[in-house]
Order: sequence, then structure tokens, then C-alpha cells
Amino acid sequence: MLRYETTGLYGEGLLEGDSFDRGEISLAAERLQARFSSGELGFVNCPDIDPEAIEAWAATKLQEGWTDQVVIGIGGSSLGARAVLHAADPEHLRGLRTHFAENLDPETVDRLFSGLDPRTTLVVVITKSGTTIETMSQFWIAWRMIADAVGEEASHRHLVGITDPEGGELRKLVERHGWQNFSVPPNVGGRFSVLTAVGLVPLALAGYPIAELLQGARQVRERHAADLAGSWGMAAAEHISLMREGVDELVMMSYADRLSMLVDWFCQLWAESLGKARNRRGETVHVGITPIKALGVIDQHSQVQLYMEGPRNKHVTFLEVERFERDRVVPVSPALPDGLSHLQGRRISEIFAAELAGTRAALRREGRPTSRWIFSEISPRTVGSFLFSWQMITAMAGELLEIDAFDQPGVELGKKIAHGLLGRVGHAEFARLGQPAEEDLADPGILLL
Ligand code: PA5
Repeated sequence: MLRYETTGLYGEGLLEGDSFDRGEISLAAERLQARFSSGELGFVNCPDIDPEAIEAWAATKLQEGWTDQVVIGIGGSSLGARAVLHAADPEHLRGLRTHFAENLDPETVDRLFSGLDPRTTLVVVITKSGTTIETMSQFWIAWRMIADAVGEEASHRHLVGITDPEGGELRKLVERHGWQNFSVPPNVGGRFSVLTAVGLVPLALAGYPIAELLQGARQVRERHAADLAGSWGMAAAEHISLMREGVDELVMMSYADRLSMLVDWFCQLWAESLGKARNRRGETVHVGITPIKALGVIDQHSQVQLYMEGPRNKHVTFLEVERFERDRVVPVSPALPDGLSHLQGRRISEIFAAELAGTRAALRREGRPTSRWIFSEISPRTVGSFLFSWQMITAMAGELLEIDAFDQPGVELGKKIAHGLLGRVGHAEFARLGQPAEEDLADPGILLL
């Protein structure tokens, strides 16, 4: 089970002022519902995907003797599967060893591809557009590596493409060479696609129970979808109301290492969806709530000082776990000095919980807005319901802000300039934009030794 509790606007009423009334939230919910009904937004239907075909396909791959998969993708085409897999108990995974090729750091890329056995590695390349530089350049390296090891003809068996059903360069390659492939539904955007083949295929190959993940998403949808203006709408309204009061940073602090990558997934979803220059009417608005990743308890010794005493611009939402799979007890020992004797006989989970309770209470006493996501346990079902809930809250937040939460115009210019600098046909104009400006030349930066 997953629970959300808040001490904010709609909970204990920490803030007053420019907030939404229930009518506005209901109108936003109606607009979102209309987008679902017209088929414009498909992510709401992803929990209904039948996992059996993917599971059966993954099972045949396991029988064929593959040992590893390298999953090549970036942003929404990578983060979901990475986060879910990171949240899994490694002892429960019985599938392929999984490596993610995401960042283009040359050392990381070289280390990853040098360490793989090309004879037994599947290459799962994921890009909805089919043209993403980071993904396709690494894919080319992977394919060459495989072809050099097993021959051009046999290399095709190693390749799995996940992309748009019709358009894009990867789709052309898939069709030309007859590679195994899966489609990303055209009405599901990258950061909303974890519950499509984008997330499900690599997870199934890793031996993750995707049916339970989908079930968790379905269950939370059944509970809340009939009333979008309810919990999800309230949570979205709370964050936006806080933003309007100057609380425009949302810290997600997970008190579980296994949940820490879900925070990365959330950061991308929240930042790319809600950080927008214009609203749907074309007016300049420059809205957004900056997501910040924190990890308990480590960040109690780092960021929490800032959250307690720094600017009053942060809402801290905690990811809490009620029941851990493993635990230890601090041994009872007469050698422990008096000042530490209260620790003996305590479970690590108890100490962890006390640290969390202390931080939460301290922030609340300081009048800092907080909220809690409570995982009864870290399971595929609670993770699925977390993912789906945040997708819905993000979509509701977009409606309340009257922006398009599903595009990302702000990342396009940088991509085009990069293509231009690399000499892509038709991009000369962007290559010019990428040349150092006068102020860059005047400021050469700081060269470290
Ligand atoms: O959420 C998004 O749309 C982006 O983060 C994309 O997922 C990311 O840019 C990768 O795009 P693509 O799947 O086209 O390679």
C-alpha cells in the first residue's frame, strides 16, 4: 500500500493566500479527463497493457542463453526502467544482468562497452524519436562491437528496437533489418512511458515482475481516477499554491536507498513537464517548481541545514518505508559508553525511523511545508502506484497551470545546435549559433590543474 499525507495547504493549512478553490480544481480535472477521453493522452491507459506477451518473449530470451542486456536510451527512455530496477530487491531478480548506457561521458561509455561479452549480450535500444544523438551514437558502437564479434549476419539477433511505430530513423533500421521490436504508443510521451514497452521490456528481461508493477498502477488508478479533483488534484493544487507563495522548490527526500532513483525519475518528470515559458494561450508565464533530490539520512548531514534555516522556498516530501526486507540489531554491550547506550538492542530500521521522524518534526516546527509518501513496503505494486500517482499529479499540475505538460520546447535549441556543430545536414545555421560569443571569449572559464 502507498499513502500520501500532507501538512501543507489542504492538510493542516500552513499557507494562506493565492490558492485554488475546489471549483478550479474540478475544471482542471474535467479538462484533463477530456484529453484522456479523446485519446490525446495515452499514459492513463498504460496500466491496462497486457504483460503476458512481453513476459513470454522475455522468457524465450532467457532460455536462449543470453547473459546480459545493454539498455541504450536517455531521459524518459531510460530513467523509468533504471529507477524501478534500482528499487527491486536484487535477490528477487532472475533475469539478464542489466547495464544502462545513458550518459555520453566518454570514460563511462568506453568502460561499459569494454566490459561486455558481445557474444551473449542483447542490445535494447530505446528512442521514441529515433534520432537522439546520445542513444544512436552509443547504439552504433554497440552494433559494431557485436558485428565484429559474431559477424554482420548474426548480429541482427542481438538487436531489439523500441521506438515510434511509424516514424524516425530507428524505425527505418528496424524495418530494414527485421530486428525484434516494440512500439512506443504515439500518444505517450517519453517521461510518461515507463509503463509501456520502454520500461516493461528491459524490466522483463531483467526478471522483474512487470505484471505486479502494472497491477499497482491499476489499483491506485481504480481508487482515484473517478475523482481527479480529489487526492491527485489536491496534491497538484497544493504544490502550485505553494509555488505562488514563493515555495518553488520541491525536495523529494527518500529514506530508502532502493527508492533513490525513483527520485531521479520524478525530477525529470516534474522539471520537464512543468518548467514552461508559455501557457496554452501563448502568454509568457515562466512557471515551474524546481525538483531537488535528497537522500535520508545522509542529507541530514548536508542539505537539511539549508532546509531548516535557509530561504522559505522549499517543500520537503518524504518517501518513507514501513517495512524493510532486511535489518540488523546494534549489539548489546557493556562497553558502550552511557551516551550511546540507548542505541544497543535497537534495530537499524528503528534508528532510521527515529532520524526520519526527527527531521520531519523539526521541519514542521520551523513551519516548513512537508508531505509524506508512505510505502508499506518496497514492492512492484507500491512502486507502480507511486509512478502512476506522480504522472497523474504532474498532469493535473499542468492543467492547473494551463500549460502543456507534455512537450519540451526548451530542450530543442540545444539539441539542434549540437547537431549543427557535429555537421548534420541542414543544420548549418544552428552550427553558427554554437560558435563562442564575444562574452564567452572574454570569459575563458577556470582551468583546474
Ligand atoms: O520525456 C521526454 O520526452 C524526454 O526526456 C525523452 O524521453 C528523451 O529526450 C529521449 O527521447 P527519445 O526517446 O526520442 O530518444
